[in-house]
Amino acid sequence: MQLSSEELAMLQGQNGRAVQKAMQILNALGVIYGAERMIPVVSVQISGVSYDNLGEAGLEFLDEMARGGGKARVLTTLNPAGMDIENWQTLGISEDFALNQQRVIQAFADMGVITTCSCTPYLFGNTPLFGEHIAWSESSAVAFANAVLGARTNREGGPSALAAALTGFTPEYGLHLDKNRQPSVHIHVEARLSESHHWGALGQAIGRRFETLKRKPIPYLTGVSSASLENLKSFCASVATYAGLAHFHIQGLTPEAAQYPPPAESFTITQTEIDETLASLSSAPADAPADFVSLGCPHLSLREIARIAELLKGKKVTREFWITTSRPVRQMADRMGYSAIIEASGAKFATDTCCVVAPIQRRFKVMATDSAKACYYAGAKNKFATRILPFDEVVLEATR
Ligand code: F3S
Repeated sequence: MQLSSEELAMLQGQNGRAVQKAMQILNALGVIYGAERMIPVVSVQISGVSYDNLGEAGLEFLDEMARGGGKARVLTTLNPAGMDIENWQTLGISEDFALNQQRVIQAFADMGVITTCSCTPYLFGNTPLFGEHIAWSESSAVAFANAVLGARTNREGGPSALAAALTGFTPEYGLHLDKNRQPSVHIHVEARLSESHHWGALGQAIGRRFETLKRKPIPYLTGVSSASLENLKSFCASVATYAGLAHFHIQGLTPEAAQYPPPAESFTITQTEIDETLASLSSAPADAPADFVSLGCPHLSLREIARIAELLKGKKVTREFWITTSRPVRQMADRMGYSAIIEASGAKFATDTCCVVAPIQRRFKVMATDSAKACYYAGAKNKFATRILPFDEVVLEATR
């Protein structure tokens, strides 16, 4: 690992304790992964923000970095926190948890990190360009950045992303290098993918096919003629969760796909496989009503919120319904009058947070959602049974 004089000075502590610690983390990572040098990054996104995941040990690390004079040198935003920062009481969050979560947010704020907490930073200005090097850590956003935007990031952990923010560098290995971005398996899709939950099912179907593989190949998908931004964010979340992928190509849709021919090794995913996968994502018995409804995994776009408002206009929800999104998108929804319609129905905005990172283990029995990723964590973390439905039907489920 060759360090420049600027990087060496950081490592030797000439820029303060936090920067020194950050460069130690990055240097160790570079050595482990065989990087030859550091490269500058233009954007950072940090996960590990919910106090539910961080705990006291994680908070202590952040405090140490803040007290050590750490300051973000590049545009840096946060992943969802464990609560709505401004309106946590409505979501039934305890005061103890809220105080600890606020300490986490304050530590990041002290380091100059923009405390917008969202897994879709690309929807509100933390939007890197094609070919730019970045250090992001939320797995769905990492896949979106690499595959859809054509930016370059490894899947960082919270500490290594923070280290990149405080130094402005990341070690050059993995997906920062051309040779590691090439597809090695061709997946032909013979299925209708008209809604976001179909895309979630496709991600899980790919995960099943890759289950036994130690090293996950980068797939090159064909047979898909169109996808909305919302479809792709759903697919990114699912394919990262179930297949562990940080990159993929879709012929005719994603920006690097045209550089490559379809790889020789190939398989087909059929409609039957998508239907079976969708069925497996619903673990709740058919007659068990959902007592919790959640949309926004990954965080909702303004277009999705507009649709929810359209569907909820003049109606009342009959169960707990969380609308999870980022603060900037929520503010646009406020301005457009969508938030007022949604809140008049009794549905709740869970801004800055989501149904996975909020501390709601075992609070509900059955969750309805359109997100394959949310289904995974509802079972694995929160111990809820799940029902996956098309987007519009999730909204209708809340009003039944
Ligand atoms: Fe985002 Fe939470 Fe889903 S972080 S991708 S809404 S699990």
